Amino acid sequence: MKTQVCIIGGGPSGLMLSQLLHLKGIDTVVLERQSREYVLSRIRAGVLEHGFAELMREAECGERMDREGEIHDGFFIAHDGKLDRVDLHKYSGGSSVVVYGQTELTRDLYEARDRMKGIVIHNAEDVQPHDLKSDTPYVTYRDGDEIVRIDCDFVIGADGFHGVSRKSIPKDVLKEYEKVYPFGWLGVLSRTKPASPELVYAKHERGFALCSLRSQILSRYYIQVPLTDSVEDWSDAAFWEELKRRLPKEIADQLVTGDSIEKSIAPLRSFVAEPMRYGNLFLAGDSAHIVPPTGARGLNSAASDIYYLYHAMLGHYQQGDSSGLDNYSAKALARVWKAQRFSWWMTTMLHTFPASSEYDQKLQEIDLAYLFSSEAAQRSLAENYVGLPF
Ligand code: APR
Ligand code: PHB
Repeated sequence: MKTQVCIIGGGPSGLMLSQLLHLKGIDTVVLERQSREYVLSRIRAGVLEHGFAELMREAECGERMDREGEIHDGFFIAHDGKLDRVDLHKYSGGSSVVVYGQTELTRDLYEARDRMKGIVIHNAEDVQPHDLKSDTPYVTYRDGDEIVRIDCDFVIGADGFHGVSRKSIPKDVLKEYEKVYPFGWLGVLSRTKPASPELVYAKHERGFALCSLRSQILSRYYIQVPLTDSVEDWSDAAFWEELKRRLPKEIADQLVTGDSIEKSIAPLRSFVAEPMRYGNLFLAGDSAHIVPPTGARGLNSAASDIYYLYHAMLGHYQQGDSSGLDNYSAKALARVWKAQRFSWWMTTMLHTFPASSEYDQKLQEIDLAYLFSSEAAQRSLAENYVGLPF
């Protein structure tokens, strides 16, 4: 097979780039290790920043998001017996976020790829990029007993944190920065009315909790748990009881419990790999960086990578200008690190750290007290939460 851009990974990053490029007449093939059913069964976060929502529209995939997604102009932070609201709209100069499940967004992207007859190959085993430093890179994968080769101009590594792309960059070229947090999030999805129409991030001495939602009939809740816990340790009843204890009374009183549709534990990690380009391989999204979910930045850090890559590819193919590709890594990393800082800050401010001193705890309290006493601080939070420009 031959294509212009071979994209490894059929998650939101890979599909979005494939769709955008195809609309401009640039040929792509997407190689996904899993089946489509498997990809669409993964429950992921549900807050989209303005910039990502715009990309969805540009990719001609925004119709259902605009119909079913909810615009949120603010969210709450519960702390120290108070329930404070962050007014995103007011403090970000009129911007907001869209509450729309990432799983649904991925479904929309797949449907768009199908409509355009885009090539997405599922169950691609042993995907391997080759000759990345040459002008004639190629990617191989296994289909049963057969090894298939795809020749291309560029390889995009959009295969998530556990993918093969980042691992193809020699160790002496790649620098990895990592911070692992000493806890995870236990998440529950339930077909119940959300406890609050807007998200509630709750700091509590027993641990952090989050009330989120997918719609007004589908709720998503999280509680901070030790890394040693497993899903089997948490019955639905135990989860609801613990969540309730960590929420302020006015929210807890509104909590509607029900059977969990999905329950899982995710560890929290901050991670960046530099550079994001090696020869003709370009990393995008989770393959190059991970944030803890506290600031809702996961997909949104991927958004700017895709935007920069998309425009860099257009420059290359339409104007013969490769400066966008040459600048990609530095430009993408500059925004990635800002999302890292914000996610780390939100995580540090709102969680209970097992080894924290009384001094650390005081600083957490003061961080929040300062935030809600200062318009400048709320402006800073809001501009990061709705998404820094790209
Ligand atoms: N070969 C082919 N595909 C692979 C391989 C491989 N060796 N390894 C992983 N993949 C696939 C995964 O199955 C997955 O579908 O790559 C895809 C990567 O998708 P994501 O992990 O969703 O990463 P990305 O598309 O960058 O999405 C950005 O935003 O909210 C965050 O972490 C969340 O996934 C989300 C991310
Ligand atoms: C979610 O709805 O899953 C969600 C929302 C906000 C976050 C993290 C996760 O910060």
